[in-house]
Amino acid sequence: MDKELETLKEQLKQQEKLASLGMLSAGIAHEIQNPLNFVINFSKMSDKLLNDLTEIVEDNEDKIPNDDREEVEDIVADLRENMAKIVEHGERAISIIQGILLVSRGKENEFLPTDICKLVKEYVWLSYHAMRANHKNFNIGIHEDYEAEIPKVMAIPQDLSRAVLNLMNNACYAVWHKSQTMQDYSPEVTVSVKKAGEEVVIVISDNGEGMTDEVKQRLFENFFTTKPVGQGTGLGMSITRDIIENKHGGHITFDSKEGEGSVFTLTIPVKK
Ligand SMILES: Nc1ncnc2c1ncn2[C@@H]1O[C@H](COP(=O)(O)OP(=O)(O)OP(=O)(O)O)[C@@H](O)[C@H]1O
Ligand SMILES: [Mg+2]
Repeated sequence: MDKELETLKEQLKQQEKLASLGMLSAGIAHEIQNPLNFVINFSKMSDKLLNDLTEIVEDNEDKIPNDDREEVEDIVADLRENMAKIVEHGERAISIIQGILLVSRGKENEFLPTDICKLVKEYVWLSYHAMRANHKNFNIGIHEDYEAEIPKVMAIPQDLSRAVLNLMNNACYAVWHKSQTMQDYSPEVTVSVKKAGEEVVIVISDNGEGMTDEVKQRLFENFFTTKPVGQGTGLGMSITRDIIENKHGGHITFDSKEGEGSVFTLTIPVKK
């Protein structure tokens, strides 16, 4: 019992750390938005300047040798492509930041109209990049299928993102772990979001190590983990179930075959 209390205290400390980390990252995200907007806008402005430059070259066609003109045109085309890349990736960064802000802006237990596809996408990639940063030679294929035009759903973004993050972390870990011992194996995680009647269905599946019967039975138990000390708290699934079933009135189901992979399905009612 004493040991359990100790673990619980340790978990609480971790939670507090995470909460302040959340606030810190919201602050950083907010601050990064401005310079990022500058980068994007200056890139767009430079693109306009290239138009002017092209016009000048065209107006002076007869004064510039053919070879030189072609070279200038090639360089302008390359520069245009570079500008477009800067804008594209800058906007991707903005959208990631807005995802973080949206999630940290919501108050605890506050239902907000939520773009589920966007939220899932952000956290799928957040998990992927975190895993990449933490595990050497982490290289997996991610397949995404988001149904277009799913209306916003009343959800608690802060919580829903944690649920997605945990499922995604688990899936990434399962394929990564399997890849450490297996050759000729291509680790894959597939994510889809679809609307089915009055429900939104999120499916995260992996071709990872799968679960034994014991793991399946104990999956939702607090502190049940098969991961090495320090890598898993064993709270992920019980928190995820609480978020989906108790807070959002939805369902979580899973299917898994040892050695072959797992599928987790979250069903969330559009109206609560
Ligand atoms: N996709 C999966 N494939 C294989 N095993 C899984 C998968 N998801 C969960 N598990 C098993 O269920 C256990 C419990 O998962 P849970 O998310 O609750 O805890 P954890 O991932 O070990 O730790 P954390 O609290 O950091 O999430 C895992 O340790 C793992 O053995
Ligand atoms: Mg987990």
